[in-house]
Amino acid sequence: MKVIYQNSYGPVSELLKKEIQKPGIKENEVLIKIHASAINDYDWSMVRGKPYLYRLMFGLFKPKNPIPGMELSGVIEAIGKSVTRFKVGDQVYGDISNYGFGSFAEYIAINEKAILPKPNSLKYEEAAALSHAGGLALQGLQDLGKLKAGDKVLINGGGGGMGIIAAQIANFKGAKVTGVDHLTKLEEMKAYGYDEVIDYNTTDFTELKTKFNLILDAKTNRSPFKYLNVLKPNGRYITVGGSLSRLIQVLFFKAWIKLIYKKNFAILALKANKDMRFLEALIANGSLRLAIDESFDFDHVPEAIQFFGEARHLGKVVITHKTKV
Ligand SMILES: NC(=O)c1ccc[n+]([C@@H]2O[C@H](COP(=O)([O-])OP(=O)(O)OC[C@H]3O[C@@H](n4cnc5c(N)ncnc54)[C@H](OP(=O)(O)O)[C@@H]3O)[C@@H](O)[C@H]2O)c1
Repeated sequence: MKVIYQNSYGPVSELLKKEIQKPGIKENEVLIKIHASAINDYDWSMVRGKPYLYRLMFGLFKPKNPIPGMELSGVIEAIGKSVTRFKVGDQVYGDISNYGFGSFAEYIAINEKAILPKPNSLKYEEAAALSHAGGLALQGLQDLGKLKAGDKVLINGGGGGMGIIAAQIANFKGAKVTGVDHLTKLEEMKAYGYDEVIDYNTTDFTELKTKFNLILDAKTNRSPFKYLNVLKPNGRYITVGGSLSRLIQVLFFKAWIKLIYKKNFAILALKANKDMRFLEALIANGSLRLAIDESFDFDHVPEAIQFFGEARHLGKVVITHKTKV
């Protein structure tokens, strides 16, 4: 089978397209023929080995798993002896990062717990784009953010994969949503449920007069004390990612901020594939639309990762695994 392979950390252009043997399956695994996958921040970091701290997770000197990719949709081709949740022919999708990587491939053998049944109403490309960003958005807003109807919510990095889904969930729950992102995305972001939009290059949202009940941040890049300026009493600041040094500051100061300022700061630790049924239902009733900025074919995974890392994508960047490869 064809895979995208990395022998070492380095520029995306050094990724290899390689032919390897189709994997066998263990008792608790399923063999999936992959139809679509999606690009995530993990891929951009894992291929380049940057930030260096991530190498503690991905492998110190070279990647432990040489095939990147952590989201997929596809069809089950074979099942292990003890698999109970799926049968051959089932359509599935999911964020597999709790069980390893390797979705930039024609096939993957993976623990049955890593995936979910794919509803027929979701196209393969949509399903591949849902689980990771959807999980970040839902768990950030709901589980940690305790989102309520009437809340004023600000989403920083609001035009990315997580932000586009989060804005629509917040809308559905009856909140007012402000999004911060690059100028080129702002108009389109309004079509995905943002009531107000802010250009991060011209406006520092932490200097606004407006106060928010909840800030959801995909790009934490300021001192935690800056965010206090724009939080209402009992406000919540939830970060899903950003600069490592700033995230460490959030960890370090959050108890103190709670004690002195009575505001909640938290860092999300994503639980892969949690509560996807809720998001599937929102899609089915028309309350949630997935934004797929660009769809690349499997031959162009390196270009897709480079595009994700450098370009101005709105929503998700997806790979279609057509079998001409
Ligand atoms: N908590 C967890 O367990 C966990 C697990 C995996 C990943 N993550 C993290 O979750 C985040 C994923 O978010 P995502 O999928 O939505 O990423 P994404 O698609 O890359 O979106 C990020 C958005 O932020 C924008 N942006 C860039 N610089 C900005 C700035 N200075 N101010 C405001 N916005 C800015 C980007 O626009 P441009 O096009 O201008 O760059 C992009 O639209 C990442 O930080 C990732 O590391 C967290």
